[in-house]
Amino acid sequence: MEQLAEQLKQVIEQIVPSNELHGRWLNSLSMMENTGARKISRYEHPVHTGIIVLKHAAEEARHAYYLKKQIEKVVPGNFPDYTFPYLLAPVTSYQYLHQLDISACRYLKDKLGLEGRELFHGAYLLVTYAIEVRADLLYGIYQEALTKYKSKVNVKSIILEEEGHLAEMTRMLQTFHPEWAQLAEDICKVEGDLFIKWIVAIQQELN
Ligand SMILES: [Fe+2]
Ligand SMILES: [Fe+2]
Repeated sequence: MEQLAEQLKQVIEQIVPSNELHGRWLNSLSMMENTGARKISRYEHPVHTGIIVLKHAAEEARHAYYLKKQIEKVVPGNFPDYTFPYLLAPVTSYQYLHQLDISACRYLKDKLGLEGRELFHGAYLLVTYAIEVRADLLYGIYQEALTKYKSKVNVKSIILEEEGHLAEMTRMLQTFHPEWAQLAEDICKVEGDLFIKWIVAIQQELN
């Protein structure tokens, strides 16, 4: 973990001082937040949807929008959409969440025999949990670099909301399954491998 945090810090400290790279970084994060928001909406039950899930979907969509707006402070007018030239490590960035999602579904099917709605709900909780743990590390290190380089960009409001999500996911997982901690640990391991792939792919683009 320590080593990964150090690796992440090095990557981010290479990105932030370069406006062009920083723009693509922000756009990539925006794309991933938007993918998250769309997944939450897809997993929502059409009728039995409570305020926590609605808040969560709204906030992830806000993160995507907020990050997109930050690009204007760095490289104005250059990043119209999420096509490959405007992203960092586009293929890996696109795959990260989808692969995590697929792995979580397969895991819940094999290990707990879940199907249909139950499977959707479980995958939503576990995937989101793993991502929130990651978001905590990533946005924390990113904000430190932003402060260090006196960037006009800041992600403090995102950090605050992601902390809230992590607490909510933990509470929901506790009622989802008595062995939730083991389930979460297993998915976090899968997420860890995917995250390393992502960082390595970005690193390769920087060199
Ligand atoms: Fe988010
Ligand atoms: Fe979140």
